[in-house]
Amino acid sequence: MAQRVAVARDLAALRRRLGRFRAAGETIALVPTMGALHEGHLSLVRLARRKADRVVVSVFVNPTQFAPHEDLASYPRTWATDLAALARLDTDLVWAPNVKTMYPPGFATRIAPEGPARAGLEDRFRPHFFGGMATVVAKLFLQCAPDIAVFGEKDFQQLKVVTQMVQDLGLPLGIAAGRTVRDRDGLALSSRNAYLTPAQRSIAPTLYRVLRDSAAAIRQCQPVGGVLARGRKAITRAGFALDYLEARHAETLEPIRSLQDGPMRLLVAAKLGTTRLIDNVGV
Ligand code: PAJ
Repeated sequence: MAQRVAVARDLAALRRRLGRFRAAGETIALVPTMGALHEGHLSLVRLARRKADRVVVSVFVNPTQFAPHEDLASYPRTWATDLAALARLDTDLVWAPNVKTMYPPGFATRIAPEGPARAGLEDRFRPHFFGGMATVVAKLFLQCAPDIAVFGEKDFQQLKVVTQMVQDLGLPLGIAAGRTVRDRDGLALSSRNAYLTPAQRSIAPTLYRVLRDSAAAIRQCQPVGGVLARGRKAITRAGFALDYLEARHAETLEPIRSLQDGPMRLLVAAKLGTTRLIDNVGV
């Protein structure tokens, strides 16, 4: 028989379930997601399981982090298989509010993150994204009051924005980061990979290859500027429309020119047709 997983769809049900965990003195880990779960998400659920007594996974496709021209309407929704996967991992509770529950009529408040949210990476191409993301994540934190929340390094700038927000607002929780899960050919798992045609899918691993090769070259002390210029050419030559390939300080996301300036992260975003892919590696 298939295992079942508890689902809360409104705030009363959420509070009832969480109240039971709290009354038993149990700690709670939250994994925020937009569903369409893959092994990357599931690795975060496993990490959450190691960090707390109870694991809550939120599934909410957050409209405020999509621009009008983006893929909100077509964003993959795979509720039944998501639930089955979460049940297999012994998830204690799935928090699945609808849009009205999250944003009741008249909703008029928005978090406006700065610092890492203004690093000139994703924010340059998706200016609405971090405000919408931070607003919903702050709401999820307040609704679930977790001891710890788990985010993926896959969305590295998002991880930094959330960490900064928790620090700045003094939110009483810790942030844990999970490593990027990849397909065998190196492509970082993403719900958006489902949009790729077979031809695009065969090109897609170029991003990770370039990141890895660039990181190796920088470790061998080749000048960062030249390494990035070659990487940008390789990505464009493979058929991508490149948004950015950048070397940044791994903590502040500020531009850095050499490993002597601090820990370095290489971050990339590029489009194959209409599908936008992002990835990053440490140097
Ligand atoms: P979503 O894209 O569903 O991702 C949910 C979490 O899974 C994020 O922390 C993301 O970094 C992580 N993740 C995605 N792909 C991964 C991979 N290949 N390996 C490891 N982790 C991976 O990110 C969001 O949703 C939203 O912005 C959200 C934070 C839920 C707010 O709406």
